[in-house]
Amino acid sequence: MKNYKNIGHRIIHLPVIDSTNNYLTMLFNKGDINHGCVIMADKQTRGRGQRDSNWESEDGKNIMFSLCIEPQNFPVLKQFDISCFTSICIINFLNEIGISAKIKWPNDIMVHDQKIAGILIENQLTGKNIKLANIGIGININQINFNILNATSLIKELKSKRDISKDKSLIIEHLNIGYNTFFYNHNELRKEYLEHLYQYKITAKYKSKNGFFLGEITGISDWGKLRVKVDGQIIEFDNKEIEYI
Ligand code: BTN
Repeated sequence: MKNYKNIGHRIIHLPVIDSTNNYLTMLFNKGDINHGCVIMADKQTRGRGQRDSNWESEDGKNIMFSLCIEPQNFPVLKQFDISCFTSICIINFLNEIGISAKIKWPNDIMVHDQKIAGILIENQLTGKNIKLANIGIGININQINFNILNATSLIKELKSKRDISKDKSLIIEHLNIGYNTFFYNHNELRKEYLEHLYQYKITAKYKSKNGFFLGEITGISDWGKLRVKVDGQIIEFDNKEIEYI
């Protein structure tokens, strides 16, 4: 039986790295880190995002880290619960500092239609179970100008500069509380996820390979696919199969 330590029991702080997710995988594979370790960086030279995108961040202005989770008896079928867990912890962190946010499926964190945080989860399996969840998190803190249009940050939302080290401690605290209270509670995770889901039960415009259409998000499948009601029929979409318009 593993010795389960708190999240953040060890924090490795790097001034510069290619990607904290890459570095975490390398250390984990060498047996140098375990459950709860966090790799933080001030700057990433090849920060990675979802769908093979890059994660851009001005040096020293934002929070970028990866968290090592070694879940207990966690079937790969439940892998979307890890996205739910991470998104909810970020929402709780933002709520505590006075920001109300939504989760844009699968796991973009949005404030008024603008992205404030992103999540990149990379799992390693052993048989049908997850042995490592490498949870990469980027949260925009003190950056004001972005290359992409729909991005925001804490400084932009709160109109005042943040103490990044305090915010780092606070997000780790929320991940630790979340891990100890709801990480293994599938029903609670799914319920909370839907409560914060962007455009849930709202008719909106989307695009798929067949073109534009109007649909209403009705839920999320066990595997984490987006369920959308289109012309009275429920269709399930994978991450690359649907675009929000
Ligand atoms: C996304 O929204 O596209 C996911 C962005 C994830 C960015 C974080 S920053 C820390 C960690 N290291 C990476 O290379 N990516 C994640």
